[in-house]
Amino acid sequence: MMNITQKRLDKAVESRRAIKYFEPSFSIPEKDLITIITTALNIPTPDDCTPFRICRIEKNTELRKKIRNVGFDQPQHTDASILLAMCVDLRILASGLKLDLEADSQLLRDKAMFYSAMFSQGIMVSAASMGYDTCPMIGFSFDEVGKLLNKPEHVILTNFVALGKRCKAPLPRGSKREFNKIVYLNNFPDK
Ligand SMILES: Cc1cc2nc3c(=O)[nH]c(=O)nc-3n(C[C@H](O)[C@H](O)[C@H](O)COP(=O)(O)O)c2cc1C
Repeated sequence: MMNITQKRLDKAVESRRAIKYFEPSFSIPEKDLITIITTALNIPTPDDCTPFRICRIEKNTELRKKIRNVGFDQPQHTDASILLAMCVDLRILASGLKLDLEADSQLLRDKAMFYSAMFSQGIMVSAASMGYDTCPMIGFSFDEVGKLLNKPEHVILTNFVALGKRCKAPLPRGSKREFNKIVYLNNFPDK
């Protein structure tokens, strides 16, 4: 069992990286996955509804290999300890937002992406605080994965989150812009 060190939340946010190579033999215990997901569920959702659905793809299965095949052969799909297909049930979201499933379909899709991104980030930060690594992933065929998951029409697949333990250090971070260049007081500065 590898050594896992819990981190303070600020350090967890700072140290979270999108990991490309996971240790294939590493396993995250079930109780930790439950903690990670239930903690992340504390994000704000409309009308306090829970529109999220997750297909958790079992390790060492044909399904993992098939997902990798339609996912640009990315090793995280097979090697991560846990692979979560993040989905949103549009019927539940529509009811929470008081929107119409048909007439407001584009708006609902936008909102689904927004809420699922927040949930995914919650999962990644929660996992990082427990000492685990993650990778958010949209590099795959959404149509093909949707078929593999037997996804119903009223459910939208938004991304994967892979979780595990890194076995190769990520490249150094790209430069992030300074506070003053991205945060304006009240309104946009003149050109
Ligand atoms: C929406 C989204 C989708 C991503 N999809 C993939 C992916 O399919 N495969 C991958 O290796 N990384 C993926 N990444 C990770 C990015 O490559 C990575 O976040 C970016 O290079 C910044 O690195 P960092 O998160 O380590 O700071 C994705 C990131 C985001 C935000």
